[in-house]
Amino acid sequence: MTATICGTGSYIPSYTMDNHDIARLVETSDEWIRERTGVIRRHIVRDETTVSMAAEAARRALADAGAALEEIDLILVSTISSNVVLPCAACEVQKELGAVNATCFDLSAACTGFVLAYNTALAYLASGVCRTALIIGSESLSNLTNWKDRGTCILFGDGAGAAVLRADAAEEDRLRKHYLPVTHSDGGKGAALTCKSRHDFSGLNGGGKEISPEDILDDAHYMQMDGQAVFKFAVKRVPEVIGEVLELNQVKTDEISYYILHQANKRIVEAVAKRLGEPMEKFPMNLQEYGNTSSASIPILLDEMNRDGRLKPGQKLVMAGFGAGLTWGAAIIEWR
Ligand code: UT7
Repeated sequence: MTATICGTGSYIPSYTMDNHDIARLVETSDEWIRERTGVIRRHIVRDETTVSMAAEAARRALADAGAALEEIDLILVSTISSNVVLPCAACEVQKELGAVNATCFDLSAACTGFVLAYNTALAYLASGVCRTALIIGSESLSNLTNWKDRGTCILFGDGAGAAVLRADAAEEDRLRKHYLPVTHSDGGKGAALTCKSRHDFSGLNGGGKEISPEDILDDAHYMQMDGQAVFKFAVKRVPEVIGEVLELNQVKTDEISYYILHQANKRIVEAVAKRLGEPMEKFPMNLQEYGNTSSASIPILLDEMNRDGRLKPGQKLVMAGFGAGLTWGAAIIEWR
């Protein structure tokens, strides 16, 4: 049994902050941010939440797929920035949509999250447990951003992207190849990118100390990153895992139309292209407009490419994610 992406959607908050706005908060400049990251502006939530953006992206994906709500039997939300702890964001999305037949759960794997949500949905569909899945990456990273830290606040943005996957019918199955994904994790290197839970009071009252609001929202409760370590990890591991997924599935680079990479930094995308010996035209980017939206970046880009006609039936695409954990992975998609 194989499955196909048959619809995409995204939601981007309308409020923007450009690099000049950031330069009013921390010591940086538009020139530095553009040169070192490629980011020009990012969209930031105002009235939106991670759940409301996820639900809107999902509605758009369902409309694109022509899928009925009753058809959806699995909803996965990949997020590290949900506005709800309980119930999970996927159940909240189910409630907003009224997709009553779905099994819903969240997945937390940061910037590799959408690739892992895709793989998880594929496994459910391939095993026959489900027939139609809604997978969503949604992030309000601005809530986890330390706006006093120039090492991180220049990079991140908010948004959501979604895709509908349907199990192929038996006759399509015979024609379509089943591509296996490749994913990796290295928890031992997790210190490179961390963010303490707002609900983690460990260490605060251990010594009989009173808990104060200042302690609870100290810097560790925002994203903290060793930028260079993450950069080096990405430029080594992403080409490697793309090579692995191509070899595993016996696909050659010249068969790939596009590499849809997590949108973290323009220089990372360029380095991956160079290491693979592939032209930059195969590496679409939208990070200049949205910054790094973690698990939302791949589905937002996929949706833009779907809607502007860049994606054509039969094309093979590679999706590759990487980030906190550390986690990284790649999957091959054949466009519908
Ligand atoms: O989603 C996955 C997770 N994240 C990533 O993939 C991010 C990966 N890392 C990066 O994108 C880059 O490491 C950053 C954009 C975060 C930083 O760029 P960099 O080229 O690695 O800069 P750096 O940390 O090596 O700093 C170079 C210089 C330093 O000054 P000195 O010591 O050379 O005088 C920094 O103090 O640039 C300085 N600097 C800045 N200057 C202006 C660092 N941040 C800034 C800033 N504005 N925002």
